[in-house]
Amino acid sequence: MNMYTQPMLPEGSFRNKTAIVTGGGTGLGKSMTRYFLQLGANVVITSRKIDVLKETAAELEAETGGKVLPVACDVRNYEEVEAMLKTTIDTFGGVDILVNNAAGNFISPTERLSNRAFDTIIDIVLKGTYNCTLAVGKYWISGKKQGNMLNITTTYAFTGSGYVVPSAAAKGGVLAITRSLGVEWAKYGIRVNAIAPGPFPTKGAWDRLFPKQFAEMIKPDMRVPLKRVGEHQELANLAAYLVSDYSAYVTGEVVTIDGGEWLNGAGEFNWLDMMTTPEMWDQIEAAIRSNSKPKE
Ligand code: HXC
Ligand code: NAP
Repeated sequence: MNMYTQPMLPEGSFRNKTAIVTGGGTGLGKSMTRYFLQLGANVVITSRKIDVLKETAAELEAETGGKVLPVACDVRNYEEVEAMLKTTIDTFGGVDILVNNAAGNFISPTERLSNRAFDTIIDIVLKGTYNCTLAVGKYWISGKKQGNMLNITTTYAFTGSGYVVPSAAAKGGVLAITRSLGVEWAKYGIRVNAIAPGPFPTKGAWDRLFPKQFAEMIKPDMRVPLKRVGEHQELANLAAYLVSDYSAYVTGEVVTIDGGEWLNGAGEFNWLDMMTTPEMWDQIEAAIRSNSKPKE
């Protein structure tokens, strides 16, 4: 059994805690929600599709015995975010953890995008993150409450990436918010961290980023030095650690969990992985050594 598919934190780590997970009805948001529930938290899951949220809530309550409140909320709209926060406080008496996980994305040559398409991605990812951050942050600060915030960004927030330019711009902004508020709000006892995942299979991401026409051309795991995609539990373990007291001295940090993928693309000579036998290296070494011998 691989340890990374197993839960990591002690049972009851989130007892008496309430978390909001945006985009918590599907994909990685659902996996983080499941684990937070197993650790004893109450979780509010939000997104635009109330039917999906209700289905996930019923499934995870039955599975974990925890409490899940599904609340429809488009994170682009500040009034809806404030209403979602009020419902959370009315139901559970407060909120301790915010995970900004909701996102929108699709691959496209940038010149094919309309300005509205660009706005849509930036509004879900960047505006959605700062709307929730602002509403929950004001609540924590005015009430003198400590809180934990976790933003889900991507590795191309550091590097940029063609064909997902609105997402790269928005996730770069989310990274800047994380590092900025990690410092600014430390004085209030609020920690702000981020996770930059590499490829973790979800329907939402795969439908829009790796459509089946590409299946033969692109194998996301082949770009990863560890030669596999991520397991949802290992991301949930990292998320739970970052929003728990076990990471009390960590703030303003972004933790990459990508099996080495982005550094593989960045390192000038990483392509030398294609030299797979000692004999190939024998030939190259001999050639290099002969180049440095003095010429007759
Ligand atoms: C070009 C497109 C398009 C496409 C939509 N648009 N899809 N343009 N190519 N494939 C344009 C539309 O024509 C419209 O512009 C504008 O974008 C808004 O589209 P709507 O469909 O009206 O928007 P909306 O209903 O709000 O849907 C948002 C969405 C959708 C992002 C387009 O896919 C969605 O709901 N996504 C949520 C989930 C998601 O994306 N998950 C993946 C996250 S993965 P016009 O000009 O016509 O009005 C992720 C991982 C990163 O972030 C890293 C992975 C390794
Ligand atoms: P996903 O299942 O599609 O999750 C995105 C969620 O965001 C959905 O539940 C969606 O629900 C919600 N959402 C979209 N627009 C919203 C809006 N305006 N208001 C509120 N909620 C909204 O995809 P995922 O792969 O799990 O992605 C989760 C997070 O991980 C994202 O931040 C993504 O960028 C990040 N990430 C994923 C990967 C990966 O490989 N999967 C890699 C790097 C980063 P509704 O449609 O119901 O609104």
